[in-house]
Amino acid sequence: MSFHFTDQAWWCEDCAISDLADQFGTPLYVYSRAQLEANYRRVADAFAPLNAHLHFSVKSNANGALLRVLRDLGSGFDVVSGGELFRALKAGAAPATIVFAGVGKTRAELEYAIDQGAGWINVESAQELDVLEEIAAARSCRSSIALRVNPSVEADTHHHIATGGHRSKFGIDVAEARSILQNANRYPHLDIAGLHIHIGSQLATPDGTVAAIERILPLTELHPIRCLDLGGGFPVAYRPTDHFPEPAAFAEKIIPVLKDRSFEIAIEPGRSISADAGALIATVQYIKPRDGRRIVVVDASMTELIRPALYEAYHHIEAVNRGEETTELADTDRRSDIVGPVCESADVLGTDRVLPILRRGDRVIVFNAGAYGMSMASNYNSRPRPAEVLIDGATARLIRRRETREDLIELENAG
Ligand code: LLP
Repeated sequence: MSFHFTDQAWWCEDCAISDLADQFGTPLYVYSRAQLEANYRRVADAFAPLNAHLHFSVKSNANGALLRVLRDLGSGFDVVSGGELFRALKAGAAPATIVFAGVGKTRAELEYAIDQGAGWINVESAQELDVLEEIAAARSCRSSIALRVNPSVEADTHHHIATGGHRSKFGIDVAEARSILQNANRYPHLDIAGLHIHIGSQLATPDGTVAAIERILPLTELHPIRCLDLGGGFPVAYRPTDHFPEPAAFAEKIIPVLKDRSFEIAIEPGRSISADAGALIATVQYIKPRDGRRIVVVDASMTELIRPALYEAYHHIEAVNRGEETTELADTDRRSDIVGPVCESADVLGTDRVLPILRRGDRVIVFNAGAYGMSMASNYNSRPRPAEVLIDGATARLIRRRETREDLIELENAG
């Protein structure tokens, strides 16, 4: 059991959230090891019939402690920068289990990946292929690469997180991929051994993925491949009323399309593994009335969790403790906007939420914050980034300390 409401209060496994807030302060990221592991197993089991290799998408949560938990379960990693590659290696990932994607890898990043022996590089342009050929030739080695193909499929998701449409910046279009594969001998130091697609994140149905696979499968007849990487994108229920297909439902639709194949399958799930394993805890600072609603100012903001501001994303919010209500309130009087202290109108974590009466010092919990929460956190308004704790039963381990004000200026002391 990960996050649960028991005895009028929210818990993470066997730790009371209010105790964690007292001990580590707020804003605070709390992760459940049990949930992370259960999520990994759920996705891995769904794709077991395809013998798929699973590469956790580090961009969704890059904390080394979480990466180590997943590595111990057998996960590989999907990285998109030299920094993420460094983190995965530091977390003890075997280099061969790392796939390196990204539309604008620098030459230095590509050299780093090759020198570290990263398993695959997912190439996103013909020019990147030329750079890789030069790097591999200079080292007299042969590097395994996959072509990330833009299948020209519009994913059913928010336009900011759709990546497979023809106008998106990602991947090589099908016609160009065809010509590269037909002329693979132009790259003697590259083993073009894979194809890669990722049409978007938080996909509402498997249909787009199936369409994308069907569109790129003919390419495998032009040039033999050893691996087809399907990317990530399995959705998460952010609203209590959301019902999305499980990873198993994606696998079920994908399996028939890939039957009789001679190559291996890889997937790169991020959110479906990390999102509901994490929550953000905040403390109420001030409450003020506004037009029949309440504005609840908390100590977490868009600098800890930018998703609501950036994508108008919904994150479910609850009071950590349900105190005794002294007044009976109609739902309309309970409506609250939960906002942060940052000087931006967009700094709102949730609007129009029905919550119990909150007082200064009460805690709120923002759910599904384990993916694209801390990994997108910033120091805007010179706010030190929050602490992160990993819960394992009744044990809470600090896995990243809260930044200090000194940390904010540390790197400016260079000159
Ligand atoms: N593979 C590739 C090549 C990707 O670009 C992504 C996500 C993933 C895998 C993992 O996708 P997931 O399983 O997490 O959906 N910041 C946005 C999401 C951006 C996703 C970018 N790419 C958000 O908070 O919704």
